[in-house]
Amino acid sequence: MSGDARKTAEGLSYLSGFGNEHSSEAVPGALPEGRNSPQRAPLGLYAEQLSGSAFTEPRAHNRRSWLYRIRPSAQHPAFTRTGNGEIRTAPFTETVPDPNRLRWNPLPDPAPGTDFLAGLWTLGGNGDAAQRAGMAVHLYHANASMDRVFSDADGELLIVPERGGLLLRTEFGLLHVEPGHIALIPRGVRFRVELLDDSARGYVCENYGARFQLPDLGPIGANGLANARDFRAPVAAYEESEGPVEVVNKFCGNLWTATYDHSPLDVVAWHGNHVPYVYDLRRFNVIGTISYDHPDPSIFTVLTSPSDTPGLAGVDFVVFAPRWLVGEDTFRPPYFHRNVMSEYMGLVEGAYDAKAEGFVPGGGSLHNMMSAHGPDRETFDRASAAELKPQKIDDGLAFMFETRWPVTLTPQAAGAEHLQRRYDDVWDGLERHFSPLR
Ligand SMILES: [Fe+2]
Repeated sequence: MSGDARKTAEGLSYLSGFGNEHSSEAVPGALPEGRNSPQRAPLGLYAEQLSGSAFTEPRAHNRRSWLYRIRPSAQHPAFTRTGNGEIRTAPFTETVPDPNRLRWNPLPDPAPGTDFLAGLWTLGGNGDAAQRAGMAVHLYHANASMDRVFSDADGELLIVPERGGLLLRTEFGLLHVEPGHIALIPRGVRFRVELLDDSARGYVCENYGARFQLPDLGPIGANGLANARDFRAPVAAYEESEGPVEVVNKFCGNLWTATYDHSPLDVVAWHGNHVPYVYDLRRFNVIGTISYDHPDPSIFTVLTSPSDTPGLAGVDFVVFAPRWLVGEDTFRPPYFHRNVMSEYMGLVEGAYDAKAEGFVPGGGSLHNMMSAHGPDRETFDRASAAELKPQKIDDGLAFMFETRWPVTLTPQAAGAEHLQRRYDDVWDGLERHFSPLR
């Protein structure tokens, strides 16, 4: 929230690339040469491995980092249970899965003094966090920076800001995230969220399953969609603060707290490929038709969490970024469809080309497995009659968390004041035009 924090955020350096081996040291000589765990790590640091994959996963999927820190993570007192706030975790069993099309307005403003963690509000999800399968949809609203540190043992966190910049102080260094960016915090990585504006709001996909990766490109070739080099990992930065620091750990659905006598963000150097990232969605290379029809929205996949069935994602993160529409004799907005996958959509800014109104930044919609949806009447009428000139869609940034399992709501989402009670009405009035004699 301070000018100093924004200046810090905007002056940050980054390492470029996704999933490859990075290394960084905040103090020259802190990173050992040639071995991960020398008899004595440089500068009196402790060496520690953070494993994001099983030791024995294939090399292409193996994720781990070595951290060189002032104190080992092991040095902490016992964690004790604390309140879960409005955070809920799979399995979601408190409501009956709902086949209806659902849409919400943005979360109401938070109470004064709400930090990112207190402002996390779970909409729903699927799977089972303890089985490391499935996902949760959270929204957040905050008006205070965290002075505590958080880590999530249940999954990685894909943060999609909609309002307000964030400075993420992680074990690996600092990330600056603005609306239009995403941040990816790996499972178990400790971080603190500081606000760069008076308030912050956005979305979080908590992915319990396989780590997000870039999708295969197949016939697209070697380039396109989200390019690996546009993902940015932080350079090492550490805190030396001594004194009480609250550390909150999310574990199998519950929050646990401990008061450390030092900051756990004390990593002076690191190397590895299990690291946090920030990515600017405006860098997404949008691919679409240059003849007729348009491809399925899978062509907009930024990151995918694969399952054991090829092509069937635990969850995909898909972005509807600015793009040209040029299809001839084509209904250009998203078509009517029913999908075996379940779709949660959010809007970062502007408008979405399948809906005339009601789907607003900070809001969201859920179209669960096989629920019928598509353009509303106004959009259908307009797009059916439009003169098909090349058209730039550049007034919005929508995204989708698309998951293989239905999303079951939390009671707070099912009964929310900001749930739109008459969403079905957007498809009212789609008239019968059929005439067998025409
Ligand atoms: Fe859809």
